[in-house]
Amino acid sequence: MTSRWHQRVRTGTEAEARQMTDEPVVVGLGGSGRPGSTTERALAAALDGARRAGATTRLFDGAFLAELPLFLPWQQARTAAAVELVSALRTADGVIVATPSYHGGVSALVKSAMDYLEDLRGDDRPYLDGRAVGCVVTAAGAQAGGVTLSALRTIVHALRGWPTPLSVSLNTTRSAAGPINLTESGTATQLSILGEQVTRFATAFGRRPQAELRTAR
Ligand SMILES: Cc1cc2nc3c(=O)[nH]c(=O)nc-3n(C[C@H](O)[C@H](O)[C@H](O)COP(=O)(O)O)c2cc1C
Repeated sequence: MTSRWHQRVRTGTEAEARQMTDEPVVVGLGGSGRPGSTTERALAAALDGARRAGATTRLFDGAFLAELPLFLPWQQARTAAAVELVSALRTADGVIVATPSYHGGVSALVKSAMDYLEDLRGDDRPYLDGRAVGCVVTAAGAQAGGVTLSALRTIVHALRGWPTPLSVSLNTTRSAAGPINLTESGTATQLSILGEQVTRFATAFGRRPQAELRTAR
């Protein structure tokens, strides 16, 4: 089960991290949990872009999400992992979601994790309100990539988030040139720009009030 703080804040609780930084925090969630998951690698690359633009990032990968019980709205009990995810999303300034396309839609693993945003329903910033959200999809074909990306952006809208202008859909089908290469310049650039857009939005519009940052110190 993996959730990782990156770069500037490597250890410590979320509260400690917030005391240590004025940088926007971008939370990434997604992947398939499959060893070598393309979706997870794409998510990590997008978070790299967010960090390059000045964010502190945290990654909830597929293995972490697989530890979460299926979200059931009438069940009040929360596991430690669920509390950790919800608390990170509550204080995030921006979010990146990455899903494989399963049967033409967002995977159950990723969608169930997103359903936990229901726990933010009564917050001052409900759901994804005020946060930029980068959307990344991988699929073994262009059609599923397109419809799943469209569905993911619609889910973000439903949750009051702001999908970034650039989303990324990756076709993971092997081509004559071999398996998809996430470091290939076009793909790497797109993922990096997506991460930068999330950070830039968070810096311009989505930051927590400065007073909150001051009292946290
Ligand atoms: C259960 C399942 C359903 C899938 N459904 C589709 C689909 O409808 N269309 C498609 O293009 N690819 C589909 N795929 C392929 C995955 O979207 C694709 O391989 C993806 O990149 C896998 O992500 P990963 O490397 O992170 O595991 C499916 C894969 C699985 C395991």
